[in-house]
Amino acid sequence: MSKSKNQEKYLVTSALPYANGDLHIGQIAGAYLPADIFVRYLKLKGENVLYICGTDEHGAPISIKAEAEGITPQELVDKYHKIIKKSFKGLEINFDNFSGTARPINDKLSQEFFLNLYNKGYIEKKISQQFYCEHDKRFLSDRYVEGICPNCGAEGARGDQCDSCGKLIETIKLGNPVCKICGNTPIIKETTHWYLNLPKFENKLKKWLDTKKYWKENVRNFILGWIKSGLKERAITRDINWGVPVPLEDAKGKVLYVWFDAPIGYISSTIEWAEKIGKPEKWKEYWLDPQTKMIHFLGKDNIPFHTIIWPSMLMEQEKEFILPYDVPANEYLNIQGEKISTSRNLAVWVGDYLKYFDGELLRYVLAAIAPENKDSDFTWSNFQIKVNSELANILGNLANRVFTFSKRYFGGVIQKPNEFSELSQTTLIGANEIVTEIDEAYSNYQVRKAAKLCLDIARLGNKYFDETKPWEKIKKDKNQAAETLYVCSELLRKISIVLSPILPRKMQELHKMMNLPVEDLWDKYNDGFEKIHIDKIQPLFAKIDDQDIEKQEKLLAQKIQDRKKKMDHKEEITYEDFSKMEIRVATIISANRIKRSNKLTKLILDLGEEKRQIVAGISKDYSDEELIGKKIALLVNLKKIKLMGVESNGMLLAANTEDECSLLILDKDIPAGSVIS
Ligand code: 2FM
Ligand code: ZN
Repeated sequence: MSKSKNQEKYLVTSALPYANGDLHIGQIAGAYLPADIFVRYLKLKGENVLYICGTDEHGAPISIKAEAEGITPQELVDKYHKIIKKSFKGLEINFDNFSGTARPINDKLSQEFFLNLYNKGYIEKKISQQFYCEHDKRFLSDRYVEGICPNCGAEGARGDQCDSCGKLIETIKLGNPVCKICGNTPIIKETTHWYLNLPKFENKLKKWLDTKKYWKENVRNFILGWIKSGLKERAITRDINWGVPVPLEDAKGKVLYVWFDAPIGYISSTIEWAEKIGKPEKWKEYWLDPQTKMIHFLGKDNIPFHTIIWPSMLMEQEKEFILPYDVPANEYLNIQGEKISTSRNLAVWVGDYLKYFDGELLRYVLAAIAPENKDSDFTWSNFQIKVNSELANILGNLANRVFTFSKRYFGGVIQKPNEFSELSQTTLIGANEIVTEIDEAYSNYQVRKAAKLCLDIARLGNKYFDETKPWEKIKKDKNQAAETLYVCSELLRKISIVLSPILPRKMQELHKMMNLPVEDLWDKYNDGFEKIHIDKIQPLFAKIDDQDIEKQEKLLAQKIQDRKKKMDHKEEITYEDFSKMEIRVATIISANRIKRSNKLTKLILDLGEEKRQIVAGISKDYSDEELIGKKIALLVNLKKIKLMGVESNGMLLAANTEDECSLLILDKDIPAGSVIS
């Protein structure tokens, strides 16, 4: 690739995933896919870019899980490193290097980082009180205690950070602490730890952050709020036996906190890359050159570490490391309206997904619903809609109708006409204008917008095809039909370039089907082509069947139910809790089995004052006819959901066994709408 004159240099990273489980689609949407798309876009534009990642391999969760599985932490880490790598491969997330933080090179660098800060007086030793579980015989660091957040009062706050208010927590201040390993109440015990003196960095940090006005608003607000509430000293050592040893005589048996050595993994992974390519010094061209733009992609829970602690660590080293240029953090992805929970197995795991569907489809769907500025929701029915009605019906259809037509009447040859009609010209100009917008969207990390705009080019193509009616023109003036084919193919060629960061393989297929030159880089989008020859037409996207979606919905519903059951066992509810549920008598007015499903029935209910639509899994047990007129119990104030794409506004009460269900039917004629309590 030739070096363009004002080539920029980028170092892009994605948050290092913990090596204790497969990846789930929320992580992909937050930290990996947007970065991979951005990197592919930059490479397509001929920029100098390096994409770095690796597994995050230390920390208490890993040592505890290894213990539970009866293997060593290293064995556990190796196992999941492989699984994670495979998932990335299946989704075509292509790092230039994918390392791991438990490698010797990262130990060494982390100890150097620690000592530099220590020698400059930024790290201090302190005796402190800590939770200790007498049952498990271990100090309970951060994630292993749960309780009430001292800042906002939310329950279930983790010892290191509260998910409700996002603030970091001084573990010892948690209310009603519970050991997350065994459920007992821990005691408080004294221990010695080393603390990073964050208040000492405050002025420098503020000054630096002042230069970051271009950061995403959610990220800036988050940090500014954080600084405003006062920076506190943070313990950066732990009492566990899996991690980087603290390089001090009086710290025997202690290791560095996982969050200390994790981001250093970005550097060691780059060094590993340089060694692999046989240019061991080359990592410095990125990390020590102030011209490098370092961009960290991550989910919002990682913001404080990357914008406060990590830059502080970098600022006071002997080498002059660059600081993050941008931190485009994303919000969360929920699934079917539920918050993803890895510990409760409420997630769609990438490995599971790949057993059923093509990785590229997920890339497209997650890009199209990316949680860029607010949380977004993944549902299987929306996944199906996006694939079938956008990829297949809009883009796939355009390619198919154009190529088939060209094969039938022109032997597959598509050639630039001597002249263009006005409509053809405006269509081509329109497409170029969209490309300019796509360019801007990608460079601002707006993959959601980029995905939509790419499809807009295909929409434009379909509209133009319909308007120019080549099937009529072919009978009167062959040239006019040929012109339509050219313009549509040119649109498809542009799409094959600008959509390739999102759908790399599919767009390569399209490119190949059109026999276009391989080196079609971004700046070629405007050029147009002279002549192509289509020989083999293959459908780009196969539609997804209803049964396949139903299967996934069921699997997920089961997970949600399991989680709820687990929670039920743990929690007792009060009268007050119960009174929050509004249950009323409802008369079934109409019942219609949902054809695409083998258990769902759509019901219209009379609630006295209003009518309601719900969807219930009762079609195996009740025919539509026998349901009509029945008076049932309905939970009225339940959040609306969609099942198989049909809205359900409430839930009927029924007794369920594994193979049958029985509705709760009133045995007296109580008016519809009456309260049940
Ligand atoms: O939250 C996480 O999943 C962490 N493993 C992210 C680490 S990012 C980086 F600093 F290494
Ligand atoms: Zn315990």
